Amino acid sequence: MTEQLRVGVIGTGGMGGRHARNIDAQTPGARLTAVMDIDADRAAEVAEPAGAAVFTDGHDLIGAGSVDAVIIASPDATHAELAAACLDAGKPALVEKPLATDLTGAAGVVEAEAKRGRRLLQVGLMRHYDPQHVAVKEAVDRGDIGRPLMFRGWHRNPPEARPPTSEEVLVNAAVHDIYSARWLLGDEVSEVFVRGTTINPERTDQWDLQLMTLTMAGGAIATVEVNKDSGFGYEVGVEMSGSRGMVSTAPHHTPVIRREGQMRQSVEPDWLERFATAYVIEVQAWVASVLHDRPEGPTAWDGYLTLAAALAGAMSIETGVPVPVETPDRPPIYG
Ligand SMILES: NC(=O)c1ccc[n+]([C@@H]2O[C@H](COP(=O)([O-])OP(=O)(O)OC[C@H]3O[C@@H](n4cnc5c(N)ncnc54)[C@H](O)[C@@H]3O)[C@@H](O)[C@H]2O)c1
Repeated sequence: MTEQLRVGVIGTGGMGGRHARNIDAQTPGARLTAVMDIDADRAAEVAEPAGAAVFTDGHDLIGAGSVDAVIIASPDATHAELAAACLDAGKPALVEKPLATDLTGAAGVVEAEAKRGRRLLQVGLMRHYDPQHVAVKEAVDRGDIGRPLMFRGWHRNPPEARPPTSEEVLVNAAVHDIYSARWLLGDEVSEVFVRGTTINPERTDQWDLQLMTLTMAGGAIATVEVNKDSGFGYEVGVEMSGSRGMVSTAPHHTPVIRREGQMRQSVEPDWLERFATAYVIEVQAWVASVLHDRPEGPTAWDGYLTLAAALAGAMSIETGVPVPVETPDRPPIYG
């Protein structure tokens, strides 16, 4: 491996564009050498400041001699195939969540990585690097709240140009919250129950506001509220109850202003702003882990298990009852 990690980015939209810029401008030890997007103009715009090459095919980028490691930030349905191609090429990759859109795809990636016998993939479940979430994790690990018993998460989004289906709310968005519940409670999901409602009256068959209850294998409980059309901006937070107390994320980064009989605080408009620091820390940690050959962070196994719980949620919406989640034996490479 070279001293400077030469990184290629596939998909240069909101997320991939940010990762590419963070690699180029914020990550010592890494260089952006290649980008690919089906929108050639968008790819060229992201490539230009770094002097990176523009590819028209993701597989060509993965195979390129000028690329040591890959960031996959193209649409959800492309992740599993591109991650498998990185494994075939023996190249480390930061794969955006979800790892796949169906469980067979996710299992295939996990199996392929386990067969290689060493971790090459990290999944973009980036709350793991958000300082506010990390502070909660540290408090839980220190024993500040005693035995963790309950998790409450909220994930409120501005509306998207194309509103998601009920299943997409779970597979695309709630996987983050499922990861947080597993990570902070230190346990696996054994059952999922989802109820919801519709905010947009023209889409009565789709739930853009969902409330998920997760039962953990050890008996702890988690609730997750995902709102895909909040009407006010973007907000993510967690609160944990334990046998001796509670801990929660600090409310917002922004100052509280009191004036003329009012108290006001701005809410971040979107995920790029709310998690700007987390995205920088995430790629820096990923690059360092690749350069030092010490894989860390969320794994393909996390990608598989968060997707399994999300899809159980989709099944719960369909059937109206709680749905069990199977946790297969953990392949040894995942510790
Ligand atoms: N970890 C996070 O916090 C986070 C946040 C947002 C999005 N994401 C994930 O990142 C991925 C991209 O999301 P986004 O918000 O940037 O979407 P986006 O629509 O802004 O960007 C997607 C880009 O991929 C390109 N594209 C489409 N098909 C492609 C293909 N087959 N090969 C290569 N490029 C292709 C599009 O032209 C577009 O530029 C998604 O998987 C999403 O779930 C993760």
